[in-house]
Amino acid sequence: MDKTTSIHGMWSSRLMFILAATGSAVGLGNIWRFPYMTSDNGGGAFVLVYLGCILLVGLPILMAEILIGRHGRVSPINTFRKLTRESGVSRHWVAIGWIGIVAGILILSFYSVVAGWTLHYAFLYVKQLAGGAAITDPGATFAALLADPLELTFWHALFMLLTVAVVALGVEKGLERAVRFLMPALFVLLLMLVVYGMTTGFMGQAATFLFKPDWSVITGGTFLSAMGQAFFTLSLGMCTMMTYGAYLPREGVSIGRVGIAVALTDTSVALLAGLAIFPIVLSFGIDPAGGGPGLIFTSLPLAFESMPFGIVYGLAFFGLLAVAAWTSSISLLEPATAFLVERFGVASRKRAALGIAGLSWLLGLLSVLSLNVWSGVRILDRDIMTFVEFIANDLMLPLGGLLIALFAGWALNRTILREQLSDMPPVLFTTWRWLMRVVAPALVLIVLVRAVL
Ligand code: PHE
Repeated sequence: MDKTTSIHGMWSSRLMFILAATGSAVGLGNIWRFPYMTSDNGGGAFVLVYLGCILLVGLPILMAEILIGRHGRVSPINTFRKLTRESGVSRHWVAIGWIGIVAGILILSFYSVVAGWTLHYAFLYVKQLAGGAAITDPGATFAALLADPLELTFWHALFMLLTVAVVALGVEKGLERAVRFLMPALFVLLLMLVVYGMTTGFMGQAATFLFKPDWSVITGGTFLSAMGQAFFTLSLGMCTMMTYGAYLPREGVSIGRVGIAVALTDTSVALLAGLAIFPIVLSFGIDPAGGGPGLIFTSLPLAFESMPFGIVYGLAFFGLLAVAAWTSSISLLEPATAFLVERFGVASRKRAALGIAGLSWLLGLLSVLSLNVWSGVRILDRDIMTFVEFIANDLMLPLGGLLIALFAGWALNRTILREQLSDMPPVLFTTWRWLMRVVAPALVLIVLVRAVL
């Protein structure tokens, strides 16, 4: 196969890759999950550990994934097959690709359910614009949604169909269109919410909660959650960024710079989301700690009901959040789809996407039911949805990332690395290589082992 292009298509430009990779990274992880994980894990200390994980583990592994993908030019499993042959190392590394595919299917299953919540909320604001009832008690509105399996299943199915539609069209036609204008719009909306937060008079208190570490609330579990969140938010450890890297042109694109751009944007969106949400939470007298997965759905509507043009704002916010989730879910589905396409031919893309998404949708029904009918079912002290989230985000992604780091650091030959990172100054290259060989794997291992013991 031609080393410089992929059969799945190529990004039309460097900017397009950055948009697509940012579209993958920025999603529910930043705006739904980051604030509530911060809330549940006691604030500042969690945020600090999370930022440390992004810098020392996330960013270097992000570069490794893009690099491996761009060298391989095919889906993760076939990339590992090719690279292990080329470098003359064990074929067992191919397991990384399989971990990625399984993690992707698991994550997509609950991701689509939560994205369905945002679609439902966007629809609630559409109804309000048409004269429907206001959301006067957001807690009750949210509880009513979770209690209704049919409603949840409907939005879950709709979101999954939207995801399949884009992936079925292929990389160039499908993904590029979705990210060009809407991501910047969401960013602006978040900024406006932060400004609103400043007018509440609670910005100082919110910043203290977010950034002042209270180490007494930290446990081994906090480290694991922060590490899992770092992987989840950067779309790492399941070969998503590797797959997107496979469609990245070689000429004139610096993997180091692109990686930094994506990581910076993603981190800023998460922090902005925190700065937008916590002043609202505090100003309505809600306890910032222990908010749980409903945090943004039970707090933001309070602000939307009381601010001028709040209904339009609420519609735009939840609508754009659904779009952000959409550009991420596409990237959850793409690695497995690309693998099937390589196996069964380019003509099978639609069926491949539909098959994987169908499986994920069925699994998602477990999450739907765990919110109501099966809410009493507990596995390792968690309901089914939280359990799936835990296995995929907190265990599989870091494990996948650990193996990717070791593969890049020890198995891939140095010439390939140097060729892919040719613009990187020698000092940085050496630093990156030792982060891959020792620092990142050691940190992930310590966190995994400490949390399990
Ligand atoms: N990064 C996405 C988010 O923050 C989720 C995701 C994880 C997407 C893994 C792809 C792969 O919402």
